[in-house]
Parts: sequence; C-alpha cells; structure tokens
Amino acid sequence: MVKKYGFGKETETDAVSEKIEESSKSELEIEATTDAEGTHFTMELTDETAVYGLGEQMRGINKRGWIYTSRNMDDPSLTESRESLYGSHNFILITTKERNLGIFIDATGRVTYDIGYTKYDELRITVSGGFDLYTIEERTALEVVREFRRIIGKSYVPPKWALGYGQSRWGYKTEADVREIVSGFEKNKLPLSMIYLDIDYMDRYKDFTIDKNRFPDFEGLVRELKAKGIRLIPIIDAAIKVEEGYEVYDEGVKNNRFCKDKEGKEFIVGVWPGDSVLPDVLNKETREWFGEKYKILLDKGIEGFWNDMNEPSLFYSKQNFVKCINEIAEKKGKDLQAEDFNHINYLLSQLANNEEDFKSFYHNADGKTISHDKVHNVYGYLLTRAAAEYFEKYNPNKKYLLFSRSSSIGMHRYGGIWMGDNASWWVHMLSEFKMLPSLNMCGFLYVGADVGGFDGNTTEDLLLRWFALNIFIPLMRNHSVPQSRRQEPYMFGKTEVFRNFLNIRYKLIPYIYEELERCAESNEMLFKPLAFEYPDDERAKETEDQLIFGKEVMLSPVFEQNASGRYVYLPEKMKLIKMKSCEEFTVTELEQGDHYIKIPLDTFAFFVKENGYSKIMNYIQK
Ligand code: NOJ
Repeated sequence: MVKKYGFGKETETDAVSEKIEESSKSELEIEATTDAEGTHFTMELTDETAVYGLGEQMRGINKRGWIYTSRNMDDPSLTESRESLYGSHNFILITTKERNLGIFIDATGRVTYDIGYTKYDELRITVSGGFDLYTIEERTALEVVREFRRIIGKSYVPPKWALGYGQSRWGYKTEADVREIVSGFEKNKLPLSMIYLDIDYMDRYKDFTIDKNRFPDFEGLVRELKAKGIRLIPIIDAAIKVEEGYEVYDEGVKNNRFCKDKEGKEFIVGVWPGDSVLPDVLNKETREWFGEKYKILLDKGIEGFWNDMNEPSLFYSKQNFVKCINEIAEKKGKDLQAEDFNHINYLLSQLANNEEDFKSFYHNADGKTISHDKVHNVYGYLLTRAAAEYFEKYNPNKKYLLFSRSSSIGMHRYGGIWMGDNASWWVHMLSEFKMLPSLNMCGFLYVGADVGGFDGNTTEDLLLRWFALNIFIPLMRNHSVPQSRRQEPYMFGKTEVFRNFLNIRYKLIPYIYEELERCAESNEMLFKPLAFEYPDDERAKETEDQLIFGKEVMLSPVFEQNASGRYVYLPEKMKLIKMKSCEEFTVTELEQGDHYIKIPLDTFAFFVKENGYSKIMNYIQK
C-alpha cells in the first residue's frame, strides 16, 4: 500500500506520475522530528534488517553500515569514502522477515541516510528543505519495488541498436580519428554499433556546434557510418559558452534563459568553454527552448546523445575565482608558513562545485524564485528531460538513445545513466555490478559503467573480464581519458577473445532487449539481488557478487585479477553454460550449494535456471 505525506515541497518534480492523495501525518508510523538541519526520520534496525536502494552509490547492495547523501556531485574519486555520486535516488527499502517497507523522499535538496553509521542499530534520514514522503508496504521486497516503480511511471527503453557495443574515448577529435576506429573494428571483424563523440567535436566546446575543420562533412560522415550500422553519438554539456554572436548564448540572454545571481545578472561559471552560463531548466519554457536546440544535430542525422556535466559541474564560479586569486595574491613574495600553504591548497580545493556558489544563483521555477542549492539535485534530470521531450515532438514514432551523468528519480522515464568517471580498477567492475539492482529499483534500466575504466591504464585481462561482465548489461560502452593507454578491443593480443565475447553479446541482444522491455512494462527489476529472489535463503541474502538477470539467468562474473575461476553459490539447481564462442560451449548441471567454477580468461560463464535453458539456447544457436 502506498501512502503520501506532504512536507512543503520546494517545487514540483513530477517524479511520481500517478496522482496520490495525501494522508494525514497522524497515520505516519515513522518517528519524525524537525530542527534547524531539517526533518529527521528515525527507525530502529534489528540485526537482521537489510536496507537496499539509493541507486547510484558506492559500497554494497545492502546499504547498512554507512552514511549516504543525495547531493549530485562531479568528483571522479569513486572510492568507498564517498557519500554521494552524480545522482540522487531517494528510494530505500527496509526489509526484515516480518516487514518490507519502501520509503521515497521526493525532494530536490540534500537528503542524508545514516544507515547504522552513527549508531549501528539506527536508521536516521535527514531531509533539508521541503519534500513529499511516500511509504510503500507490501508482502515482499520485489512487490514493494514493483509498486514504487508503478507510481513513478514507465522506465526509459532505448532503441534496440543501443544495446550494441559502443566505442568511445575522450580524444577522438577528427573525422579521420573516427574513420580509423571504424577501420580498426572492420579489419578485426569486431561488431560495432556506436562511436561516441566527446567534447572535441564541438567548436571550442560550444554546445550544438561542430568544428568545421575537424569535421568538414559531419552529415556525410553520419550517413556513411549509418550505412555500416554505426551511429555517431555526440556529447552535450550543461553549460553554455558566454560569447556574443553564438546563437544559443544570444537567444538565451535575450529571452532570460539562464540562471541569475542575486542582482538578476547571468551567473558566470567556468567549465570547458571558459566563461559559461547555466540554462534555467527549472523553467518549463527554458526546457522547451533548450530541448529544441538538439534539432541542430537531429537534422544532421544524429539519433542519440550523452548529456554530461549536468550536476551541474562547475570548475569555479567567476566570483569565487576572483576572491580566491586575490587572497592568494596577498601572499605573493611572503615567507609562507605551513598554515599559509595549507590554506592556499584549501582555497584552490574549494573552487570546484562550491556549496556557496550553489547558494548564489537562482532559478525561475515557473514563476517562483528558488536558489539553486534547494533544487540542485533535479538539475541534471530536467536538462535530460528537456531533450527527451523535444525528441518526442521531433519524431513521436522514433526511439532515441539518451543517457545522462547526473540524474534523479523522474529522469528514469526519459533516459539512462552511465556511472561517471570510474577508473581502470578491478574494484570498479564490482561497483558497476552492485549499482545495477539499486538503480533498477529506482527505475533506471538502461545503465552501465565505462567498460575498461575511464581513468588510468587498463590491462588486457581487466578489459576482457569487463567485456564478459557487460555482456548482459544494457549499456555497453568502452570509454577512457585521453592520457590513458588506448583500450579499443583490437589494441591487445587476444582480439579473438574480444571478438567472441562481442559475438555472444550480439547473439543475446534480442533476449536482453526483450527482458528490458518486459521489465519496463511490468515495473520489474532487470538485475535482482539473490536476496530478493530467494528471501528465505540466508546465504542468498549475503551474496552480493552474483545477480539474477531477468527471469532465468544468474550472473557470477570474475572480479579479481589473476583468478582463473571463483566460488559461486547456487540457491537452486541450475545449468552452468561456459562459452568460448557461440559455437564452442559446454553445459553442466549443478546442484544447489557451493561450487568452485573454473572460468579462464577466454571464457564467458553464466547460469540458467532449469526452466530457462532451452529459451537461452535458442537465442545462442539462432
Ligand atoms: C566528464 C565525463 O564524465 C567524461 O566521460 C568525459 O569524457 C569528460 N567529461 C569530457 O567530456
């Protein structure tokens, strides 16, 4: 049963698409108090209580034992110490044998979930600012999730081709670079469905422009690649360059489209293009205007985009930068003490994504002036929604590819998510895996991390294991920083193994897509923790490095370097399918219980429940 309680929301988020009447607060069974920090909800946690959800966050699938914050943030150090990442996904599920309770905080500002961090046996949620609270109580965890997903509306499903393999790298700068990648894939007989364009395709990082020197015939290139079944997917950033004569900037200034400072002047920030301004997407008309800008690229044959830097990410604000530099300049030529030096470092560290900056600019939320910090967490969602709503107008009969770095619940209806700036670390494969069910609970089905790792140097074995891991993950994109070692699948020795893995993926696309559509339609999770599927199995509850995919598959990837296999827990009798290629594979039936499974580097292994075997085999052998 779903109940809604109002706590004076800042602005409408449309996160919930179903109309639900408010209940009286006297019916609320969770202890609530209010103080200067915000509204607190407190609950006791017994030893067996598990807490799930929160979408894109580090750490376990069971979120107990840490403090998490919803505050969309661009910070590439994706470590266990982080309390927030790029998205805010305010849905949690609290489970015991007796009770399955879902809580959704429909808020636009900061929310903190202290899940046994301060006190091991206490959950304390703190919401700053206004919000609506939803409680959902059902018989099982899966039913709570289904009910939650029903009220937030149908999840985004991309076009089928978007389940193909995508090659990306921050550093493909020219038409020639793109052609070189295509020919690398062709020569090595590797399937390819998308090439991503990072910021270098633009004219000096200006959204909706193309550098004519680097891409003299952009439309021709789009056409040529499409004929080969490859789509070009350009990036769009949140901030707009301040430059008179640049149409997007001029129009925006003329029609009041950008966020303002307290004097009503455009608030200037520094991002890739230098001095920039932020589209005020809290405003419906601005959303319509910004969305329509995508037409420039759609008209050139583009069918998909990735939206970046939309937390929004600020390298600095003009006002804070000036203040900081002046303070540092005062120290010029002086004998710096350790404290002075530390202070300078501190000042510089406070330039990016500064909370004071977030308080210093304002939105016109359809008539109501709101400071950014109060609505910060829905900014990325609304920018992406602006694009999706325009695509619907541009061609209502077509599906477009769209995914975003920043998000909050509500955006799940408009696009997918990639998990941001991970690194070429083994542990980041596991992070991707663990985020899958949490994101699915919050409505995001088309998700995935940068395969191979974005930052740092990958290794051939890491990349191979990552390809194997992503065979069932809807968004399969290899992306990396310019300074890193190249990580296209033909850059190493075992090209044949990469080819085999990709061919397996392509064979499975119809199945994965069918499951994705089914889960979107029926509000189900594509990736489920074993704990949800086998609630009475104590071992299943603690198994976090295996997941159930759809109705019949269980995944158990290898997450460790130099491991030639792993232990797997089978909650029921299953068939183990070990594939070297679509032609060369073995099938073994295994009983419920623990098993050590050999999975060499050239092998993709997964499990199928009894009832799913012939179905999966049909896809593989088609
Ligand atoms: C940050 C994004 O997370 C990354 O994927 C991208 O390559 C860079 N911005 C440059 O656009």
